[in-house]
Amino acid sequence: MTILKLAGISHHYFSKNGYTKALEDISFSLERGEFISILGPSGCGKSTILSIIARLLQHTSGDIFIHEVPIKESKEEIGYMLQQDYLFPWKTVLQNVLLGPKIQKREDEAIEDRANVLLQEVGLSNVKNQYPTELSGGMRQRAALVRTLMNNPEIFLLDEPFSSLDFQTKLKLEDLVATILNQYEKTTILVTHDIGEAIAMSDRIIMMEANPGRIVKIYDVPTELRAESPIVARKHDAFQPIFDTIWQELEKKEKSGEGI
Ligand SMILES: Nc1ncnc2c1ncn2[C@@H]1O[C@H](COP(=O)(O)OP(=O)(O)OP(=O)(O)O)[C@@H](O)[C@H]1O
Ligand SMILES: [Mg+2]
Repeated sequence: MTILKLAGISHHYFSKNGYTKALEDISFSLERGEFISILGPSGCGKSTILSIIARLLQHTSGDIFIHEVPIKESKEEIGYMLQQDYLFPWKTVLQNVLLGPKIQKREDEAIEDRANVLLQEVGLSNVKNQYPTELSGGMRQRAALVRTLMNNPEIFLLDEPFSSLDFQTKLKLEDLVATILNQYEKTTILVTHDIGEAIAMSDRIIMMEANPGRIVKIYDVPTELRAESPIVARKHDAFQPIFDTIWQELEKKEKSGEGI
């Protein structure tokens, strides 16, 4: 079943001094439970795509459908996780996680149970009554993940959520996020600059170029890698060949002045 479909999306940012053509003719779709990554140079419009899907921006032209319903008419919840966790420092981890349901007046025992189960799954039970400033970067991102999961969105958008973490924490968190999103059958788009991360986590990889932001190629990640968790996939024999292919394509772009 197609969960999300973008058909010929273009976007212009207008300002006093003119306009920037951020996206041109972006088309792709996602099936239920699929995980895709978007790779491309800075400024090619990756975050713009996510903001449009999250309904934070109105695109200039083209169509987007969620469950075959135009995005404007769709009530579908979209989960959005960014590089910065935006946890409230004056609230504990548990209070941060329960804030969404509280604002929506959905807070009850079942919701609190769900929060506790999710916090347990990401290994934060023992710090749930602590404040974000007392946690490491990886722990904070895990809390942000639980907060996003609380609304139970079917579509998950991740904009470089691991990029501010040290390498080891990042690998562990990639594994955890992939496992949890897979377990709950979420349909996910990850924006990243990290080729290895894109390969290890995704079913497909969309490569973009800039000025204006366009899709250059869509790569299918080999089936044997998709079946593995990111840490195992990185060590698999099939990992290096696709890494080299994507690396060479990006190098070609860099030589032609469109570098990442
Ligand atoms: N609010 C805005 N107003 C005007 N132009 C913008 C705005 N936001 C982004 N742009 C421009 O649109 C283009 C795409 O930006 P976007 O942030 O989507 O790129 P990106 O691929 O996410 O880049 P990065 O990898 O650096 O995060 C860039 O040329 C950027 O300068
Ligand atoms: Mg961005």
